[in-house]
Amino acid sequence: MRLRRKTPPGGRLVSPSYVVTVSKGIFIAMSSSTPTSTPAALEIRNLQVEFDTFGGVVKAVRGVSYAVAPGQTLAVVGESGCGKSVTVQAVMGLIPRPPGRVTSGSALLKGGVDLLALTEAEARQYRARDIAMIFQDPMTSLNPTMRIGDQIAESLVVHKGMSWEASRAEAIRLLDRTRIPEASSRSRQYPFEFSGGMLQRAMIAVAVACRPAVLIADEPTTALDVTIQDQVLELMREIQREEKMAIVLITHDLGVVARMADEVAVMYAGQIVEQGPVGSIFKNSSHPYTLGLRQAMPSSDGSRTRLLPIEGSPPDLFRPPVGCGYCARCPFAMQVCEFHSPPLFDVGSGQSSACWLQHSEAPRSRDSRLHQKGKAPA
Ligand SMILES: Nc1ncnc2c1ncn2[C@@H]1O[C@H](COP(=O)(O)OP(=O)(O)OP(=O)(O)O)[C@@H](O)[C@H]1O
Ligand code: SF4
Ligand SMILES: [Mg+2]
Repeated sequence: MRLRRKTPPGGRLVSPSYVVTVSKGIFIAMSSSTPTSTPAALEIRNLQVEFDTFGGVVKAVRGVSYAVAPGQTLAVVGESGCGKSVTVQAVMGLIPRPPGRVTSGSALLKGGVDLLALTEAEARQYRARDIAMIFQDPMTSLNPTMRIGDQIAESLVVHKGMSWEASRAEAIRLLDRTRIPEASSRSRQYPFEFSGGMLQRAMIAVAVACRPAVLIADEPTTALDVTIQDQVLELMREIQREEKMAIVLITHDLGVVARMADEVAVMYAGQIVEQGPVGSIFKNSSHPYTLGLRQAMPSSDGSRTRLLPIEGSPPDLFRPPVGCGYCARCPFAMQVCEFHSPPLFDVGSGQSSACWLQHSEAPRSRDSRLHQKGKAPA
C-alpha cells in the first residue's frame, strides 16, 4: 500500500523550536517554544555544513537542530559518516576552512550568544570557559610538549584570571578528582608519560577545569577497555551532577547510551531522523532507521544474540536524495518518500520522527516493532 498524496494536508510537524503546519502544500513555521525559566544549555538550529572536495561539494550536515538542557545528557547516535562529529566541530569552530564552511544555522549558548555568529577571537573566549570538548584521541587536544598540570592551569589563568600558583593547585585538585594517582607529581609529567586511560581522564580534567555549561564528548571511551570506560563515564556523570553541566555525548555504543543519556538524537545522512527521551526512543522506535540500528547493535543487557546489519549503504552526500535519505534502504518506503523529504513529526511523549509513516494519513505498518501513532487512511 502506498501513501500517494504528494503533500499531506493538515499534518502537524515539530522541530525543537518550531511547530510547522502543512496547509495546501505550504509549510508554515511558528515559534512553539513556551517560555521556560531555564533555557537550553546549548541549542543548535538548522545547522548546515559542507565541504569542497575534488569530487564536488559534500553536504555533510543538512539542517540539524537539537538542544540539551543543563544537567542533562543528549546522546547522538548514527552510522559512521552521518555528520555527528562535523555538527559539534562546527559548534566548536573546528571546521577547517577551506575546505569546509557553515552555510547556515545557529548554536545558542544558554539561550543567549550564538557561537556561530561570533568572530574567531570572540568565540575563543567562550571555548573552554563555557563550552568544552573531549575527543576520542586525547592527543588531539593535549599539547605533547606541555606538562599536564600546566595545560589545566593555563585555561584557568586565561579564562578565569587566576594566578599561576592558584591554578596549579586547582589543577592538582582536578587530577586528584579524576582519580589520577599521586596527582601532585603526575601534574608535572608530560602526556607521553601517561597511560591511555589516564590521558583520557586528564583530558576530562582539562575540559571541565573552567566548569563549562556544556561538555561535548565525541566517542570519549571508544579506545578504552571496559573497566577504564566505566570509570571515565562515571567520572563524567559525577562532575555533571556537581556542576549541572549539559553533556552532548557522541557514541556508537547503545550500552553507553542507556547508561548515560536522558535524550537521544538519531542521525542519518546529515540529518536528525528521530529524537526524544532515551526510554521511548529505543522502546518505541518510530523511525525505521532507529529500528535498524537497534537490530544491528548489541543490546545493553547482552540479550540480543543475533545482530542484523542494515542492508545497503547511506546515500551519496554529494547529491543527497530529494526525498527521505533512508528511502533506498527502508523496508517501509512509500512513493511519497522518494520525492518529499519528511519533516519531524511529533509522535508524543517528547518524541519526534522524520518519517512519513508518522503522518496521520499514512498506512499503518504491520511491523509491531515500529511504534506508529498515525492513522491509516479510511
Ligand atoms: N575535512 C573534510 N573534507 C571533506 N569531507 C569531510 C571532512 N570532514 C568530514 N567530512 C565528511 O562529512 C561527513 C560527516 O563526517 P563526520 O565525521 O561528522 O561523521 P561521523 O558521523 O562523526 O562518523 P564516525 O562515526 O565515523 O565518526 C562524512 O561524509 C565525511 O566524509
Ligand atoms: S519516510 Fe519513508 S523511506 Fe523514510 S524512513 Fe519513513 S517509511 Fe522509510
Ligand atoms: Mg565522528
